[in-house]
This record gives sequence, structure tokens and C-alpha cells, in this order.
Amino acid sequence: MYKKLISQIDKEQMPEHIAIIMDGNGRWAEKNSKNRIKGHKEGVKAVRRIVETAVEIDLNYLTVYAFSTENWRRSKHEVNYLLKLIMNSLIDEIDELTKNNVNIRFIGSQQEIEKRYNKKVIETCKRSWNNNGLHLNVAMNYGGRRELIESFQKIANNIQTGEIDIDEISEKMVSDSLYTAGMPDPDLVIRTSGEERLSNFLIWQTAYSEFWFTKTLWPDFSRKEFIKSILDFQKRKRRFGAR
Ligand code: IPE
Ligand code: IPE
Ligand code: MG
Repeated sequence: MYKKLISQIDKEQMPEHIAIIMDGNGRWAEKNSKNRIKGHKEGVKAVRRIVETAVEIDLNYLTVYAFSTENWRRSKHEVNYLLKLIMNSLIDEIDELTKNNVNIRFIGSQQEIEKRYNKKVIETCKRSWNNNGLHLNVAMNYGGRRELIESFQKIANNIQTGEIDIDEISEKMVSDSLYTAGMPDPDLVIRTSGEERLSNFLIWQTAYSEFWFTKTLWPDFSRKEFIKSILDFQKRKRRFGAR
């Protein structure tokens, strides 16, 4: 069914980078009389579907918001479960992903979380950096404000050591010192669950992104709806300030 929709995609107007705020796992669980944990488990299945579809349509970059710097405010039980779930899902999937030419990296702050990374996952990710298929960014302990602070620290350090002058600071220099250095900015940002906010996601990079919101809860997000968001995107006229 969704294959028919895929054929409607204009390959010349493909978004280069899609970023997704995967929201609504908890509400999905509530709606289905299950606990929040089950909602997150079901959310992982949706990630698998969407990554597969992204590979199928030859998308270049996909960034998924998995855990924010604010999500530490949740119960210890939920935080621990979520972090384990993200890591274990990657352990399960990473060989298949790399076989499919997917290039995987984590974006986010290393603070608080370094020890939670599984060594095999990190090594396999690094090996996948030779792959030139889909670039999959997993935003883990990610916060846009934290990312900017870390970027300013890098730049300030280069000033302090005399490597650069203050007047040399440019948009490119900031972009190049973010976790997303070298990647195109997202063309399209999708958020599920009916919320219409960024929640500290890619605040610098989304300056000119198109937004697509749906009431669908993340575990119910289908391949079909994903393709629909791209078809909608392709109808928009982006002006970037020009007339
Ligand atoms: C998104 O679902 C998953 C993460 C934030 C990790 P939520 O857990 O935020 O689900 P709701 O918003 O409570 O429904
Ligand atoms: C955003 O969802 C973070 C992720 C999807 C990882 P939240 O559910 O944490 O966002 P708020 O709290 O509703 O803004
Ligand atoms: Mg939420």
C-alpha cells in the first residue's frame, strides 16, 4: 500500500535530511491500558519501520530524537529503562543496519552518559562511518542549548589559544562545531502526538526547516504517514528569505 505512495515521491525534490521528534509513547500506552514501558517498546518497532522506509526511499540523513537532556527529569525507573532499551535495540539491529550500508552515529552530550554506551555498539558505529547509504543520527542525551554551549566552549578555546580571532566567528564556524558538523540542516522536522514544539531539538539547525505535525502517537506512526509527510513537504515553497 505504501509502495504506491513511494512512487509519487519526486526524486528531484527529495528532502536531504529529515529529523523526527518521536513523541507519544506514554500516551499510546495509556490509551492501550499498558504501562509506559510497553509504549517505549512499541516505539522501537516504529523506529525500525521508519528507518527501513528511509533506506528504501534513499534518504540521505535521518535524525531521531531518542533521549533529551531534559528527559532525566523522569522517574529513575523510566530513565534507566529507556537508556537500556535504546542501547539494546541498537545491539540487536546494528549488524543488519550496517549491512544495509547505514552510517550510524550518536549526537548528543557525552556528559552524564558516557558509561552507558555499549563498547560493541560504539565500535560498530565507527566502522559504519565508511558506509555511504542512509546517515542515521540517534540523538541521545541531546539538548540544543547544551549543544550550543559545547560549541561556544570549543570556539572560545580556539580564541584563547590564539588559533582564531573573535571577528572570525561565523555561522559556518558555529555549524562546524556542533554535533551535526558537516551534515546538511534538516529540511523537514516531523513531530508526532499532536504537540507542536521543538523541545530543545536542533534549535540552531532548524532555522529554515519545514515542520510537519501529526496527532498520531509515535508507536502508531506508519510507513504510509511517513511518505505522506514527504509528499506534503514537496508541495511547499521554501523561500529562505528571498521573495
Ligand atoms: C516519546 O514518548 C519518547 C521519549 C521522550 C523518549 P513520551 O515518553 O514522551 O510519551 P508521552 O509524551 O508521555 O506520551
Ligand atoms: C521530546 O519529547 C524528546 C524526545 C522525543 C526524546 P518530550 O516528551 O520529552 O517533550 P516535552 O516534554 O513534551 O516537550
Ligand atoms: Mg512526550
